[in-house]
Amino acid sequence: MRTFLTVVGTLIAIIAAFLIYIYSGIYNIGATVPHNSITRWIISKTVDNSVKYHAQFINALDISDSSLVSIGFTEYTHSCIGCHGAPGTKRPEKAPQMYPPPPPLVQAATDWKPSELYWIIKNGIKMTGMPEFNSAKSDRQIWAIVAFVKKMTTMTPEQFNAFKTEEDKNANHNKKKEHLRYHN
Ligand code: HEC
Repeated sequence: MRTFLTVVGTLIAIIAAFLIYIYSGIYNIGATVPHNSITRWIISKTVDNSVKYHAQFINALDISDSSLVSIGFTEYTHSCIGCHGAPGTKRPEKAPQMYPPPPPLVQAATDWKPSELYWIIKNGIKMTGMPEFNSAKSDRQIWAIVAFVKKMTTMTPEQFNAFKTEEDKNANHNKKKEHLRYHN
């Protein structure tokens, strides 16, 4: 009986201390001070396991399709590069001011499976600056981004620039076509 009361008493004391800590406002929620190691552990394990759990129900598309990769490049430069950068580009100006800062995906995307990347991009991540793209992009566009991001993890800056040159060429070609159609 004594042991039982000691266990219950200790649990009540821990919960009370936890609540006092939360209600006191002592925890610094400012973006200028990093989380302590316990909070960091809780958040990173929660994110990791949540993404893995939810992504296991997704049937991954074949992302080796090269037309998907080139759509993904356009989508990536439009929607992601401003926070996550790309091979050979400068670190986005606002990235270090965010907490958590958006990581360069060249490194951060290597360990995620395609279905996990798809889930992250579609749903975003709560309480970070990572937006959801479910409301802005079609499934095919999201898979295209996954296809491009996976390729990007092994890209040199020159290979990344080659995509850009190709896209500029296509954009000019389409403009010319448009011009001819309009004037003939
Ligand atoms: C407004 C800035 C912003 C934009 C735009 C943005 N992200 Fe993020 N992203 C973040 C932040 C912040 C995180 C969270 C980092 C963390 O938890 O450490 C994140 C996390 C991620 C992660 C998980 C990385 C990890 O730590 O393992 C992936 C993958 C990702 N973003 C992909 C994308 C893609 C692809 C796009 C474009 C479709 C995109 N993001 C657009 C800010 C952004």
